Amino acid sequence: MERADAMVLFGITGNLAYKMLLPALYQLTADGVLDQPIVGVAKTDLDLAGLRSRAREACKAKHDKVDDAAFEKFAGNLRLVAGDYTDGATFDAIRGEVGDAGFLTHYLAVPPSLFATVAAGLAKVGLNKNARMVVEKPFGNDLESARALNAELLKFFDEDHLRRVDHFLGKEPIEDLLMFRFENMLLEPIWNRHYVDNVQITMAEDFDVADRGSFYDANGTIRDVVQNHLLQILALLAMDTPPSTDARAFIDEKWRVLRAVEAVAPGDVVRGQYDGYLATEGVREGSTTETYAALRLRINNWRWADVPFYIRSGKALGTTDLEVVAQLRTPPIGFFDGAPEPNLIRFRIQPDAGVTFDLLAKVPGRDSTRRVPLSVDFTKVLGPMEAAYQRILTDAMTGDPRRFVRFDLAEESWRIIQSVLDLPSQPLPYAKGTWGPDEATTFVPGGWHEISTTFD
Ligand code: BG6
Repeated sequence: MERADAMVLFGITGNLAYKMLLPALYQLTADGVLDQPIVGVAKTDLDLAGLRSRAREACKAKHDKVDDAAFEKFAGNLRLVAGDYTDGATFDAIRGEVGDAGFLTHYLAVPPSLFATVAAGLAKVGLNKNARMVVEKPFGNDLESARALNAELLKFFDEDHLRRVDHFLGKEPIEDLLMFRFENMLLEPIWNRHYVDNVQITMAEDFDVADRGSFYDANGTIRDVVQNHLLQILALLAMDTPPSTDARAFIDEKWRVLRAVEAVAPGDVVRGQYDGYLATEGVREGSTTETYAALRLRINNWRWADVPFYIRSGKALGTTDLEVVAQLRTPPIGFFDGAPEPNLIRFRIQPDAGVTFDLLAKVPGRDSTRRVPLSVDFTKVLGPMEAAYQRILTDAMTGDPRRFVRFDLAEESWRIIQSVLDLPSQPLPYAKGTWGPDEATTFVPGGWHEISTTFD
């Protein structure tokens, strides 16, 4: 893996750069991880001084404290090329700014419609050699467009030098799913159809689409977070043990499990739309885009056959939480009267990170049991988690491919949901602040498990 000695950041004046990338790059500089030139590219009226003060503003908006010396070091590494991506002169100027860097990371925080234009522009001045290209999501709008986009990019960069971002793969509590499974002896023996009854992945957001109306309306929940983030979580939860520790073996196993996921059948999805969505700026009149989705996924392999994996996600719900609940099978015979309740294993991902086992204990003074939580709050025990984009940007520079989406994984994820995109059911209305349409509530036999709110 080639380590880059400079980054070219396309879209440096955009929203993602402001909210995530600049603060993360600053933090990496402050932590001593990054000290390389960052050549920002954008169609902008700003000059370098203007970019630096925008960067400072971005860092202040994100971090409680911005260290002056660290910021100066970071700002000193910033360069700016202002120009249009369709103009050859822009790429000549980039070449001038990167100087004698031996290997480059091109980071594209620009709309996907510009990916191929930028790749071609780089190739014209030879900057696709000794370089990798990192592209932000979304990668395609469906299976066919993802393949077409990939074919375009492959003209200029081979797969080994392409990285597709899914920032969820940079979230430490998501990586902890792997640690939990493969660094402990506890879970793996029972992590299969003999002991697990079903798995529920919930990504709830209490905010609506706000000012992202036109982006969101062209996508909807399934494209926005299921195809990428939530299927990646499913892959980490359900994959087999890689046969070796190298990145390729790991990514291959993720691919193998996604390959085994059946395409979603029409009866296995509920789409919803919150009341008031149609009045959002940028949303088409009478739009049938979903702002909520619940899906039942079936994994056709020996480990998981007949264990449903449920995914639900939505905007304008009652809470903002990301949690996985695995429900174990119940013991065949209870100690007391009545059927025993199942144990639950909860992986908390956001807003707090940790694990909870819901075990059964005797109710004092009664001949019955009650669920009690056995919890670990990772932040309390381990300290603060690193921000996802710090990890993604570090890997963008070092080239480690494990936290990016190899194309065949993106392809499988599109395949899984393509039938829903082709034949979308009518979205069912739901009121803001609820758990989505009623139909989704009854979708899981026995119901969705209430998600835990905090560790306290
Ligand atoms: C993005 C989606 O990819 O992920 C958003 O486009 C979503 O709609 C966001 O809100 C969630 O990411 P995070 O890291 O803020 O939980």
